[in-house]
Amino acid sequence: MIILKKKLKLKPSILKKIKIVGIVVVIFLAFFIFLQNQKNTLRKLGYSEQAISNILLKWKTATVKEIGKNQTVNAAFESKDYQDDYLKIYQKVEYQDQKNLIRNINKLIQKGYKASDISMILAHGNNEDVTNFAKRKKVKYLEQFFSVSYAKLRNYDRYVSYYDKEREDAETTVLRVNMDFDKEEYTDPLEIKNFSEKVLVNKHRQLVEEYVPKNLKEVPSSLLKDDSEKIMVVSSVLKAFQKMQEAASKEDYHLLINSGYRSYQDQEETQQVYLEAYGQKYVDSYVAKPGFSEHQTGMSIDVASADTSVFVESNEYDWMMENAYLYGFILRYPKSKEEITGYKCEAWHYRYVGEKIAKYIHDHNITYDEYYIQFLDQE
Ligand code: DAL
Ligand code: ZN
Repeated sequence: MIILKKKLKLKPSILKKIKIVGIVVVIFLAFFIFLQNQKNTLRKLGYSEQAISNILLKWKTATVKEIGKNQTVNAAFESKDYQDDYLKIYQKVEYQDQKNLIRNINKLIQKGYKASDISMILAHGNNEDVTNFAKRKKVKYLEQFFSVSYAKLRNYDRYVSYYDKEREDAETTVLRVNMDFDKEEYTDPLEIKNFSEKVLVNKHRQLVEEYVPKNLKEVPSSLLKDDSEKIMVVSSVLKAFQKMQEAASKEDYHLLINSGYRSYQDQEETQQVYLEAYGQKYVDSYVAKPGFSEHQTGMSIDVASADTSVFVESNEYDWMMENAYLYGFILRYPKSKEEITGYKCEAWHYRYVGEKIAKYIHDHNITYDEYYIQFLDQE
């Protein structure tokens, strides 16, 4: 102690310096703790480290704390496109996981869209669709078409043309355009990339030549109308058919299968056979072009009766019309829906869609084309 006192007495300038350093350290520590607190609050609100750094740099902590948890604001502070003037709008825009989200929001704001319009635009397209849409002048009828949940941003111009021409309501317009009613059959078809048992194949949606469904199973010969040829279907279809066939058989109805999976090449042959036998008009109404047949999915069957070769005249036809949906099968090309399906009624052609979807289609008297476009279309 004596030595220390001596030293301090001897060097008052050092003591002053120590005091200054001490104060600086305390201030620095206090600031550090304050920053850590701010960061923790923002972290708790779900902001990323990158967003937090920018929030602090831009002195926006208080504003962001007031906004609270908000994914769009988080994305804005993560982005180099952040614009301070738009913060009030960012917070009202519903977040979408899109690469150019903030840049596109900025462009849409500049085009005169409100936050609710922007949310609607973002929800109806992917990053590319929104980027393209943001380049164009502000459009009319936005809410009209995009209040339909399955409307697609990239179809906007087609909705407007169809609406002008057909004068249908907005929902019908969206449904029909998404179903390609405004395109000629087989013109500019969609090449199907996502295969699943729910796949929709029609005159606008094409399977690639090589596509072969997974889980194909051979139909036991006892279930074939003509057992000279093997028939395959997807295993879930076979299982459901067997269950249905057993139920029918208990009521003395005898269901058989006439056709199932057909490869691209099989369909080419089928088309040729019918062309030679019945001509082009018949083929256009009853036979799909190769790549466009639901039979290539392995999810369809042509049902036959053990008693007659004209299925529509059989008791099994009536039984199927009443009961098939209970087993997950739907009549794919019904009489009243020829305009929609693009095929004349095929009393024998059933598609397996599972019990839930079959019931919905049955109860609402719609086609699979309409069901798929409304509820399953992700393209
Ligand atoms: N007969 C149906 C439409 C087909 O050829 O796939
Ligand atoms: Zn068929």
